[in-house]
Amino acid sequence: MSLEEIWARLDAHRPDTLTELFAAHQDRLRQFSGEQSGILFDFSKTHLTSSIVADFVALAKASNLGGKRDDLFNGQVVNVTEGRAAEHTAERGEGNRFSVQRAKSQQAKMRILVEAIDKDVFGGVDHILHLGIGGSALGPKLFIDALGRDMARYDVEVVSNVDGCAIKEAVLRFDPNRTLVVVASKTFTTTETLLNASSAIDWMTASGVDDPYGKFVGLTAAPAKAVEWGIDESRILAFSESVGGRYSIWSAIGFPVAVALGWKGFEDLLAGAAEMDRHFQSAPVEENWPMIGAFVDLYYSQIKGAQTRAVFSYDERMRLLSSYLQQLEMESNGKRVTETGELLTRQSSPVTWGGVGTDAQHAVFQMLHQGTALIPSEFVASIEPGHELTSPHHQQLLGNCFAQGAALMAGRPHPDEARAYPGNRPSTTLLLNRLDPRTFGALIAFYEHRTFVNAVLLGINPFDQFGVELGKQMAKEIESGDGDFDASTRALLERVGL
Ligand code: F6P
Repeated sequence: MSLEEIWARLDAHRPDTLTELFAAHQDRLRQFSGEQSGILFDFSKTHLTSSIVADFVALAKASNLGGKRDDLFNGQVVNVTEGRAAEHTAERGEGNRFSVQRAKSQQAKMRILVEAIDKDVFGGVDHILHLGIGGSALGPKLFIDALGRDMARYDVEVVSNVDGCAIKEAVLRFDPNRTLVVVASKTFTTTETLLNASSAIDWMTASGVDDPYGKFVGLTAAPAKAVEWGIDESRILAFSESVGGRYSIWSAIGFPVAVALGWKGFEDLLAGAAEMDRHFQSAPVEENWPMIGAFVDLYYSQIKGAQTRAVFSYDERMRLLSSYLQQLEMESNGKRVTETGELLTRQSSPVTWGGVGTDAQHAVFQMLHQGTALIPSEFVASIEPGHELTSPHHQQLLGNCFAQGAALMAGRPHPDEARAYPGNRPSTTLLLNRLDPRTFGALIAFYEHRTFVNAVLLGINPFDQFGVELGKQMAKEIESGDGDFDASTRALLERVGL
């Protein structure tokens, strides 16, 4: 059967409502949920049925998902447009033997540097100023915010924006003599990061720090460029070109996480992610959660026309999860051509958005329950609270989380349509036993593999990002003054004197 025929079969399904599906199939919950790596994956409140899953399995076979997954783990060129492998799994010990070895030796240097900081080799360090953007910032930000609240041994601030307010505010509370600056950039050419790095040098120089460059560490896949910029080779942590920016938290880009949590915490993150790697490689499709997650995504985006998907963390510690997933999912799969360059005939990545529960309930949930757009929602929570308060914060938090999924599904009729809830709205729930490095590593690896499965089934290369280049190029043309722009842009430039 051709891919188009399988998509047509998927399109022909007319599943019952969610409530009817639960009523008709006593074992629905068992069939569409399961535990892996300390996380309960519950996909039962979606419209997946055995026969829809069977068609997705056929689509996966026809798309050579198994072969492409092997290529990913074996270090083959899966990023075909850039002629590169995508070896983030090797960073956690799963992949091509040589790449795993290379990652391990790079991580050994990273560990030595973490321990050197602990031993005051850089003088006393209290603060880490991490400069990076996109994949070189979102991971460190999320992981430290999620896991560092109890565990953080240093005060880490991540600055990404080129807006000077960001770095100006960040250094306010820092003692320049007790700050280590980390410049994270895979390419070491990103203008925002390099400008922030120069401003950090200026700040240290103006504050009278001896040898400011001596307080800088570089994280990069282009060490020669970091040396050229002024960072000593001994303080450069390299990682492989084959680790993509949005997949790089497991590599040297995770350095501030390792500094904040300690080496054991970082190793636990890698171990949790590796466990999810093995699950993705070996679990049968019906219990392979990254695959089932992608089937849900594709069912709603491709068959039901959902243009967005929403992720709500019912856990303050994971409040940055949806911004991290925005880059992971949208920069990976927001494409208009297949990996071989033909125009896509289907919609690609939906918009990923979200927020934190319960806050979002009082802001955007109106639309989830009664709006006209179909928005598959995902709820992420932890059974163990992140605090010791005895008042019922956590009971209320989790109760609210589960109430939303139940309400979206069941709905409630009312004679006044304005007060009626149509129900039959899908949601998924990911419930962590506890938010610790190992479980969080597994959670993020789950999202990576789910993104990969989405890409393979759409025929997309999830590892390039040419879409970001044109805007960067035009910004450079504006800076150099030799761009040729439309009347509106010219007027804006003139108005601000550029
Ligand atoms: O412009 C997009 C992007 O290339 C992302 O893919 C990447 O994570 C980010 O910029 C930062 O790039 P770098 O790590 O090379 O500074």
